[in-house]
Amino acid sequence: MYVCLCNPFSDKDVTKALENPCVRNTPAQIYKACSGGVKPCCGSCVCAIKDMIVDHHAALGVQRIKEDLPVAAFETIAAE
Ligand code: FES
Repeated sequence: MYVCLCNPFSDKDVTKALENPCVRNTPAQIYKACSGGVKPCCGSCVCAIKDMIVDHHAALGVQRIKEDLPVAAFETIAAE
């Protein structure tokens, strides 16, 4: 799915940028990484990029919780 139509890139490009440790997870940095350094035109894609960053951080948080908690503790939380 295209995220930006002005300088076309997809949600897969955003995901790849989010997983790149060399790219800071700000909308501007993600946009720059995905567009090849081209600046946004209309900016209507920025909200979608922000949402993807939030979702990515939320998923990382859940993953860290799963890794940090003992399995039994996670099963107790999941059963509630
Ligand atoms: S849709 Fe991304 S800058 Fe216009």
